[in-house]
Amino acid sequence: MRFSVLVAAATVASATPVVKRQQAMSNPILHFFVFGDSYSSSGFNETSPAPTIAQPLGFPPLGTSPDDLLGNPLIANQTSSNGPIWPQFLTTRWNTSTTLLYDFAISGASIPDGYTDQALNIYEPKYSSLYAGDYGNMSMQIPVTNGSAGGGTLGMTWTGNTSIFASWIGINDINWCSLLFTRTPDVPFSSCLPPRLDEYFNLMDNLYITGARNFFFVNLPPLQRAPMVFEKGQKYVDNYAQGVELWNQHLLPQYIANFTASHPGVRSITYDAHTFFSTILDRPRVYGFRDNTCYSCIGCRNVTGCFWSNNYHPVWQVHDRLSRDMVANLTAVGWPGPQPIT
Ligand SMILES: *[C@@H]1O[C@H](CO)[C@@H](O)[C@H](O)[C@H]1NC(C)=O
Ligand SMILES: *[C@@H]1O[C@H](CO)[C@@H](O)[C@H](O)[C@H]1NC(C)=O
Ligand SMILES: *[C@@H]1O[C@H](CO)[C@@H](O)[C@H](O)[C@H]1NC(C)=O
Ligand SMILES: *[C@@H]1O[C@H](CO)[C@@H](O)[C@H](O)[C@H]1NC(C)=O
Ligand SMILES: *[C@@H]1O[C@H](CO)[C@@H](O)[C@H](O)[C@H]1NC(C)=O
Ligand SMILES: *[C@@H]1O[C@H](CO)[C@@H](O)[C@H](O)[C@H]1NC(C)=O
Ligand SMILES: *[C@@H]1O[C@H](CO)[C@@H](O)[C@H](O)[C@H]1NC(C)=O
Ligand SMILES: *[C@@H]1O[C@H](CO)[C@@H](O)[C@H](O)[C@H]1NC(C)=O
Ligand SMILES: *[C@@H]1O[C@H](CO)[C@@H](O)[C@H](O)[C@H]1NC(C)=O
Repeated sequence: MRFSVLVAAATVASATPVVKRQQAMSNPILHFFVFGDSYSSSGFNETSPAPTIAQPLGFPPLGTSPDDLLGNPLIANQTSSNGPIWPQFLTTRWNTSTTLLYDFAISGASIPDGYTDQALNIYEPKYSSLYAGDYGNMSMQIPVTNGSAGGGTLGMTWTGNTSIFASWIGINDINWCSLLFTRTPDVPFSSCLPPRLDEYFNLMDNLYITGARNFFFVNLPPLQRAPMVFEKGQKYVDNYAQGVELWNQHLLPQYIANFTASHPGVRSITYDAHTFFSTILDRPRVYGFRDNTCYSCIGCRNVTGCFWSNNYHPVWQVHDRLSRDMVANLTAVGWPGPQPIT
């Protein structure tokens, strides 16, 4: 089955949640793979214990109260938000089935470095069928453990249908191509970004070969509105705005459309983080923030009311809202429907 981005979007619009008695079956275990940078990094890494049903994040462990699964202080210490981040909220709070999170994102990643490393050196050898030299028959060779001591295996594998591959990358690629950081200011975004996107979608092809079929892409937030940029002045604001616009309006949609059309069975959706961030930044008080410019610092957890945790990252309250907002779009790529009637 082949879905274009637009067809997939239409699926969302028509997939109004109607809970039917006949659907009263438990949803399958969902395997949620995440690749990205500090906006998505949870502290999980290649040496962390694999996610299990008892510990769906692998690392850091969940809090102990069923009402506050994310209430482990260690979680906040591993993220850029002074609290949980969007994949963790999705996995444990807005999930509609048991959801295992494989969050490979690492701080500072851009496409040619950390992002490539996550896909090729962590995901593929450890979590994809490539590990067993088994190219793309859509089953993972390593068993998912039950979380019991000694790790009894469930004999469970993920398939294209029971997994979603989320990517939120590009924030640092804009940095490295921007006037603020580049060593070659005469190279415009229109020359600097496309080779990076070529690499990005070569990696998507790799994921496809390992069995990935459901792709969730997140576009770039309005980075020019982050204190790190606007405090530098209008020249930098204009520069970042231009890079973000090129990425969101022109490059990313084309690459996604081409990838989706040329890979049979792929479903893809683009989540519009730009609109989400802009909506809150335009009217911060409506959403419980003091203003749209103040920030604290990573580790300063007693500062309340700021949208930004530091000069380039949003606080956990933003991630919480963000993850809730993503659910409707995720259903288009296989996020299980509303909780079944029991
Ligand atoms: C995401 O979901 C929202 C709410 O259903 C919808 O308005 C929006 O068009 C969706 N976006 C995409 C890209 O599908
Ligand atoms: C990787 O995660 C483990 C916990 O699972 C932690 O002990 C270790 O320090 C981390 N390694 C790095 C390089 O961050
Ligand atoms: C988390 O970081 C805070 C502030 O740096 C520190 O006081 C606290 O002990 C840390 N908690 C854990 C569980 O590491
Ligand atoms: C959501 O995830 C949590 C943590 O794994 C789990 O306890 C809960 O049962 C899940 N919710 C559903 C509806 O499966
Ligand atoms: C995938 O490959 C493995 C190892 O070669 C094999 O055991 C398994 O049956 C294959 N699965 C499918 C669905 O073909
Ligand atoms: C998984 O663990 C639970 C208890 O933690 C146990 O009841 C169940 O039988 C185990 N399932 C398998 C397949 O080992
Ligand atoms: C995967 O989903 C597709 C489309 O919904 C369906 O045609 C196919 O039978 C499913 N495969 C498995 C193994 O469930
Ligand atoms: C997308 O595909 C079209 C038609 O094959 C091609 O002209 C265009 O260059 C491709 N764009 C990208 C970004 O790959
Ligand atoms: C609260 O934050 C301020 C700086 O903003 C710091 O001086 C103070 O020690 C912090 N208090 C606690 C309890 O973390």
